[in-house]
Amino acid sequence: MRLSDCHNIEDFRALAKARLPFPVFDYIDGAADDELTKARNTSAYETCDLVPDVLAGVEEIDPSCTILGRKSALPLMLSPTAVQRAFHWQGETAVAKAADKFGLWFGISSLATRSIEEIAALTSGPKLFQLYVHKDAGLNTHMIERCQASGFDALALTVDTIVSGKRERCLRSGFTTPPRFTPASVWSYATKPRWTLDYLLREKFRLPNLDTHVSEGSSKAVSIAEYFNTMLDTSMDWSTASAIREQWGGTFVLKGVMSANDARRAVEIGADAIMISNHGGRQLDGSRAPFDQLPEIVDAVGGEIEIICDGGVRRGTHVLKAIARGATAASGGRLYLYALAAAGQDGVERALSILQDEIERGMRLMGVTRVDQLTGERLRRR
Ligand code: FNR
Repeated sequence: MRLSDCHNIEDFRALAKARLPFPVFDYIDGAADDELTKARNTSAYETCDLVPDVLAGVEEIDPSCTILGRKSALPLMLSPTAVQRAFHWQGETAVAKAADKFGLWFGISSLATRSIEEIAALTSGPKLFQLYVHKDAGLNTHMIERCQASGFDALALTVDTIVSGKRERCLRSGFTTPPRFTPASVWSYATKPRWTLDYLLREKFRLPNLDTHVSEGSSKAVSIAEYFNTMLDTSMDWSTASAIREQWGGTFVLKGVMSANDARRAVEIGADAIMISNHGGRQLDGSRAPFDQLPEIVDAVGGEIEIICDGGVRRGTHVLKAIARGATAASGGRLYLYALAAAGQDGVERALSILQDEIERGMRLMGVTRVDQLTGERLRRR
């Protein structure tokens, strides 16, 4: 299978699976516990059907919208994801450049393998930085100040990762820190020489946004598992979120809100947007799908705050359904990560071009020329 054989996100998933050693693929593809929530994030989109208008004169369409005060070419964002350099040597650079080319928002993780400053220098397009709250307040402050100095457009505070979810595929494959090698995993690294040589011979894996706090080879180095278990502030609460919003002072997003009550509290602390998200099913398995939570959250805070529906998006029609249910935009991680793993920047660009085509084609077939025409009447619960 080659890149030119990829015609949808599932095809990129198959190509990524063929290219990556299975422990690395399973890190991207896997989720928590029984992976029920991950599956539901996508299947939820099949519980509602689109209702098209015909003969609507749709020669000229405009799929753009405004997200967090900046124009986006599509109602779609690229969610922040960790350690992209492990999936392809081009890492975050590939994703940032592709997002810039397509005029889309993208997020950079606290655990990115490119620095805040490197990413800022690559693109003037809309970008957000994703912050985990560390016990070491100095580290939070340092990251916030670096984002301010680098001109990041928004800060997203992830609130669903007080501890890491139980990722059983990683436990089995040994994709843990320290890594555990099994005969099967050693065979898998040996039989994917392109990935393995790229990993070993190209630029070293690093986590530059944590400075010396977490880095390979540093005397202060800690593993990612230790990072989640020892460095994050499990006592964080609404006052912490509010203080970080104040300190940042710019456009502020809460990522991982799942209930109408919490959405209301997000409005009260002055957040500009919430990402309804269960971290792609990687945290609390058994939690509901973001798409299923949209109606009650839109009822509670619609019009007061932007609502991004994050997770499970694999098709342009999923994006259209999220908008029709009241979201400002949809967002996703694996939709571009499979493509990154499959073919670096070329892969991400092809995936975005396929999604762009699906969104535009879907709008035409729905008989709408603008995103704001996708209203609740255009969607029915089955
Ligand atoms: C993530 N996600 C994530 N979120 C976050 O706030 N900080 C992070 O560092 C990461 N890292 C990460 C790594 C990988 C491999 C995945 C798949 C996801 C969650 C991400 O932002 C987003 O919420 C999910 O990816 C949405 O689900 P889908 O689109 O992947 O189904």
